[in-house]
Amino acid sequence: MTTTTSAVTEAETSSRGASGPGASGMAGGDHVGGDRVGHVGDGLHAGTGSWAFSGDVPRVFVDHARRSVPLYDVGHDLACDLSTCFVGRNGRGLGYELGSSTGELLRRLATHGPSNMATRWVGLDVEAGMTLAAREHCAGLGNVDVFQGDVATMSFEQCDFVVAYLTLHFLPLDRRRDVVGRVYEALRPGGAFFLFDKVLAADARLEDVVTTLHFRWKRRAGLSPEEILNKKESLLGVLQPVTTDENLVMLAEAGFPSVASVFKHLCFEGFVAVK
Ligand SMILES: C[S@@+](CC[C@H](N)C(=O)[O-])C[C@H]1O[C@@H](n2cnc3c(N)ncnc32)[C@H](O)[C@@H]1O
Repeated sequence: MTTTTSAVTEAETSSRGASGPGASGMAGGDHVGGDRVGHVGDGLHAGTGSWAFSGDVPRVFVDHARRSVPLYDVGHDLACDLSTCFVGRNGRGLGYELGSSTGELLRRLATHGPSNMATRWVGLDVEAGMTLAAREHCAGLGNVDVFQGDVATMSFEQCDFVVAYLTLHFLPLDRRRDVVGRVYEALRPGGAFFLFDKVLAADARLEDVVTTLHFRWKRRAGLSPEEILNKKESLLGVLQPVTTDENLVMLAEAGFPSVASVFKHLCFEGFVAVK
């Protein structure tokens, strides 16, 4: 990921003072326009276009995700249920989670019934802190390995199921297409890819409505208006959603003959693509 500043804790921000990256020296980053470092919720701070998953993010990640993504856990339920349709066909199978963060989903995948427990699950994350957290969270599970690495350059073994849950939207489009192509190549025939990302609405009017509803949901989840706006600033150029149609085209162009949208809530959508 090419971010310049990681999201940092309140303590880190105050110790850097006004000379820290993007810091305005004003309380809560109340510097309108340009670089700003502000509260984004859960004790984290981040500056314009500088959101990253390093620093203190792994410690609060799951709470922050639950306050940022409606139905975050329901999407995990779906990933687990879907996986059972594709693993366990060849004795010991192989599944990947790309961008496994703290291992919340990885642990659930690896323990979701007999076929999943007979499958080897590989989690991959580019951030060292996330990799460590996932290893801790999955400690004691003999069918889980967690590696630190960039999904854009990793090589896949032949596999049965791949999940990218809220991860590929952080990759520039050309790299994203390349990763999806390599996922297709690695899957055994009949295997599947579950892509879950933030998506853009089909037109500007709808994007405006959906963004408003998402922000209202975040308010109800406990984030302040300032935290919501600061988080949006911090994701500028970092999170790069595309539309439903663009995702469908990307999956079809990678070679997947069967693609369907199986989850949609506000600006979040899950696609299953079967080889
Ligand atoms: C929103 S989180 C994913 C959440 C996780 N899948 C879950 O369900 O809880 C995105 C993760 O992708 C990782 N990531 C971003 N770019 C990556 C890349 N190029 N290669 C590997 N991991 C990446 C980040 O470090 C972060 O941990």
